[in-house]
Amino acid sequence: GGLFGAGGRFKGGTDPIMEKFNESISFDKRMWDQDIRGSIAYAKAIAKVGIITDEESQTLVDGLGKVREEWANGTFEIKTGDEDIHTANERRLTELVGPVGGKLHTGRSRNDQVATDTRLWTVEAERDILKDIATFLTVGAEFAAEHIDTLTSGYTHLQPAQPIRFSHWLMSHLAAVVRDAERLKDIIPRANMCPLGSGALAGNAFGVDREFLAKELGFDGVTMNSLDATCDRDFVVEFLMWSALFLTHISQMAEDLIIINLLRGVTIDDAYATGSSLMPQKKNPDALELLRGKAGIALGRAVGLTATLKGLPRAYNKDLQEDKIPLFEAVDTVKDCLAIATGVIATLKPNPENLKKSLCPEMLATDLADYLVRKGVPFRETHHISGACVRLAEEQNISIDTLTLAQLQEIDSRFEEDVMAVWDYEASVERKSSIGGTAKACVQKQIDDCIAFAKTL
Ligand code: ARG
Repeated sequence: GGLFGAGGRFKGGTDPIMEKFNESISFDKRMWDQDIRGSIAYAKAIAKVGIITDEESQTLVDGLGKVREEWANGTFEIKTGDEDIHTANERRLTELVGPVGGKLHTGRSRNDQVATDTRLWTVEAERDILKDIATFLTVGAEFAAEHIDTLTSGYTHLQPAQPIRFSHWLMSHLAAVVRDAERLKDIIPRANMCPLGSGALAGNAFGVDREFLAKELGFDGVTMNSLDATCDRDFVVEFLMWSALFLTHISQMAEDLIIINLLRGVTIDDAYATGSSLMPQKKNPDALELLRGKAGIALGRAVGLTATLKGLPRAYNKDLQEDKIPLFEAVDTVKDCLAIATGVIATLKPNPENLKKSLCPEMLATDLADYLVRKGVPFRETHHISGACVRLAEEQNISIDTLTLAQLQEIDSRFEEDVMAVWDYEASVERKSSIGGTAKACVQKQIDDCIAFAKTL
């Protein structure tokens, strides 16, 4: 039994299996610094209301500084009975400063303490991830700029659809990540509210200045209701949901790259591929497959924690301890995926010849229809006419761009000599010149906007 488990209320010891089942120190020690910062702020706050003297407060702050140093240089020793990071730090503090250490927890509970630590940790992780996203977006957009002239096929239903710029394809994935960054920014202010001073559930009995605590800890404000504050884990759910959507976007990009790689449109750097133990020729895109795969479990974590919260009575219940492993895992996974995705893109070699090979003249059938639209024919009609041209070419087993003017005119007399200019991929791409289209200037604008946005993160 530790500091709290075997308090005065308890006679017998704890079953060792229960200790193992109950403890969270093995994982929540990751919040050691947040826990110490919370305690330093609290030591100041209780001095402000006269619960302890300024001298005692200083002793606690100095002692906490020493505990922090032990964690920082790896000498902190976790002892049996250190149930969680809060008990461990307080136990060590008391060893270092003596009985005054026992005054720190006045009016405080591990319930408001753990909520405070977890919020601090989460907000820091979120800000950190925004920086990683900025790097990813910048590297990706610069890569797109470098290869802006390379053309390839755009698909719907995985069927060749229309010619696009390869850079336009990449920017389509970065556009989704820009939204993810915006969403992540949106959830931070809700997480960044201070629960400290909520006590176990009912509030703080010593009148601590919660606004002061919030300011000391860098929070944007204080939580509204003490019961809610001690059991609210919405901020964890929001991050897990966010990570599931973000990794879903990453998985889509990875899947596209796996397909483009299969078509030899890109070469993945050796640093992100692996070989086979049996087949010497193999070069497998493992990095991409893992990027594709991470979203599944990520969604599971979001669903899992939501299910844990469902039906929980007010206020703190030990179920809430289950939030940390998925939270930590989600943050680690997101950071790993960003590092790998950034590396894959930075080292990717497009093969412009092969990318262009995925184009076929039939993908200009819409352009053929648009040609007649420009001659004043209604689109519904031109779609039909162009379709007839596709069929004729198919029947004759030739490529549509080799149909003669006479053959085209037999289908529709409004085709003229200038129709042959339709069979030009570059021209087709350049016609998509409205905002967000695949014309060069439009892709360049997406690239510029993306890089400018990344600078704001
Ligand atoms: N370790 C716990 C958690 O992670 C905090 C302790 C609160 N425990 C308690 N019995 N009130 O949620």
